[in-house]
Amino acid sequence: MDKLGRIFKSKAGEVVAVDNVSMTARKGEVTTIVGPSGSGKTTLLYLIGSLEAPDTGSIRVSGEEITGSEADLVRYRKERVGFVFQFFNLVSSLNATENVSLPMDLAGVSAKDQHLRAVELLERMGIDGRLQKTRANKMSGGEKQRVAIARAIANDPEIILADEPTGNLDSSTGENVVKILIDLAHHDGKCVLIVTHDESILEVSDRAFHMTDGRLASIK
Ligand SMILES: Nc1ncnc2c1ncn2[C@@H]1O[C@H](COP(=O)(O)OP(=O)(O)OP(=O)(O)O)[C@@H](O)[C@H]1O
Ligand SMILES: [Mg+2]
Repeated sequence: MDKLGRIFKSKAGEVVAVDNVSMTARKGEVTTIVGPSGSGKTTLLYLIGSLEAPDTGSIRVSGEEITGSEADLVRYRKERVGFVFQFFNLVSSLNATENVSLPMDLAGVSAKDQHLRAVELLERMGIDGRLQKTRANKMSGGEKQRVAIARAIANDPEIILADEPTGNLDSSTGENVVKILIDLAHHDGKCVLIVTHDESILEVSDRAFHMTDGRLASIK
């Protein structure tokens, strides 16, 4: 991405959440961004995933600029990016298989194929047959996050954006989730971008940046 910027304006004044940021995250690698609360990490991730529009700058994926019509941006969000959130953001009344099927449903995949792929992805995440039929609100944090990762990769996106993916997990459950994210980069060749307060994720990432006051500095 090149010279990305986002300014929030309110009656209280202006906040430059993301200040002229340029960086590259590569396929097959885990790139981590650490930094204090309020430094702009989530905003940057949302800009990259096109959940927010930048005020300045541009984003390129595989050499192609991600701008253009709202329809193009919707397709980009649906097919090329997968999100993993700190609070999982699963639909609590749906079971694991149904949660993973949702993005495939939006992408027009047939019900049968949705189910087959959901089961395959959940098995890979270590979510067994019983848990596959368990409603999200009855799962542990680690189980929810593994379901959320299966959902994020359901449409086989090139980019996985994870915002504090271990923020609500104990350390061993968190390590397991980080291992899965590393595997998606190193084994599946995805571009994995993790935003975190968790310095231990730094050690296992291929590349890392420190964010302060909306600016990025390369640290690895
Ligand atoms: N929708 C918004 N409207 C106004 N200001 C916002 C909005 N979203 C974020 N900000 C401000 O932008 C700055 C960056 O916020 P951001 O959420 O990106 O930080 P962060 O690094 O993710 O913090 P944390 O580690 O606490 O999650 C903060 O000063 C925040 O108050
Ligand atoms: Mg944040």
